[in-house]
Amino acid sequence: MPGASENPRTTMFSRNKLKLGIFSPNCSGGMAVTKAPERWDASWENNLKLAQMADDAGIEFLLPIARWKGYGGETDFEGSTLETITWACGLLAKTKRITVFGTVHAPLVHPIFAAKQMVTVSHVSEGRFGLNIVCGWNQDEFEMFGIAQREHDTRYEYGQEWWEVVQKIWQENAPFDYDGRFIKLKGVIGKPKPYKWRPVVMNAGSSGAGRSFAAKNCDFLFTVLIDLEKGKQDVQSIKGIAASFGRSIDVFTTSYVVLRPNRKEAQEYHEHYTMKMGDYAAVDHLMELQGLHAQSFPPEAFKLFRQRFLGGHGVYPLIGDADDVAAELAKISAAGFIGTTITFVNYLDEFPYFRDEVLPRLERMGLRQSVKTR
Ligand SMILES: Cc1cc2nc3c(=O)[nH]c(=O)nc-3n(C[C@H](O)[C@H](O)[C@H](O)COP(=O)(O)O)c2cc1C
Repeated sequence: MPGASENPRTTMFSRNKLKLGIFSPNCSGGMAVTKAPERWDASWENNLKLAQMADDAGIEFLLPIARWKGYGGETDFEGSTLETITWACGLLAKTKRITVFGTVHAPLVHPIFAAKQMVTVSHVSEGRFGLNIVCGWNQDEFEMFGIAQREHDTRYEYGQEWWEVVQKIWQENAPFDYDGRFIKLKGVIGKPKPYKWRPVVMNAGSSGAGRSFAAKNCDFLFTVLIDLEKGKQDVQSIKGIAASFGRSIDVFTTSYVVLRPNRKEAQEYHEHYTMKMGDYAAVDHLMELQGLHAQSFPPEAFKLFRQRFLGGHGVYPLIGDADDVAAELAKISAAGFIGTTITFVNYLDEFPYFRDEVLPRLERMGLRQSVKTR
């Protein structure tokens, strides 16, 4: 089966130097932990409109969050979520070019079931489906499933077996047995095979084990950006790990956008929906689940960090007018990232202004091509 990079149907290998994807529209609140009434309503209708708008604008991909329960607070942030593979399947059936990822928690979904589910989406989309493998994260979700999380690095050893089984099902034409440390299967077979090419695969591990897993198995690693200098070193280090396995990998990061006609207005809106209207109970629960406690940071650093979580789930802020946002995106590209995800408080209200003002600037900077000339 040819590799994902040979697939002309996926936009993930487009010629755009800076690729863009929309992150988390399948979750209520998106990425902004705010009580502001205009916050994101993750209805199917809104998701479909957004996907078609992004597709027409030449955005490369949509990436969901697989989240099984909310973070509480007044808004129950991300409490209402569309399941990601069925969400991707529906969107892919109704779009033309865009790649849509589905996110699978390897320990929660049997690999035989997952392999067939993904093959089906790959056929529906004629090769535009991508997989995000999650090996384990939020403890409360595993408790809800009644499944114990393995010790941190062992999660990735399980993930390795899970991914080997999925790939074997996609490749092997005769029944096979699998005798791993965790997974033992007899007479496994799965047909049909994926639509022409192996689906694009990504992982977003941040630990050593997570990054090795990505470097060994994935086309892309997604990583959170704290500052550009550290980001640059991260990209080099991840590429170095992949090279040690005789592979290459590209690295994406994640960001949130607060774009207004002038910088002051953007900063004021950011203050408004985070500091004034933030859902503090939800954000504190979210940060606690990630092991980020007030006691672990100097107070000023914690305040800044918490604002990033209120603003966009802790990802990198892009706040200002169109020149500011385009310039910051250019810096992300210069740091070695192949692209970034973007999010907005209300994707449908705010994306059109980004499309009309920031995308043409990126084209003039040579970072993207106009959708008309592609
Ligand atoms: C861009 C991005 C997307 C992620 N998507 C999910 C997700 O949908 N569901 C989930 O439970 N974890 C998700 N994660 C968590 C990662 O898979 C990973 O577990 C986390 O970054 C911690 O890294 P580690 O497992 O190497 O410690 C995501 C992380 C990032 C940065």
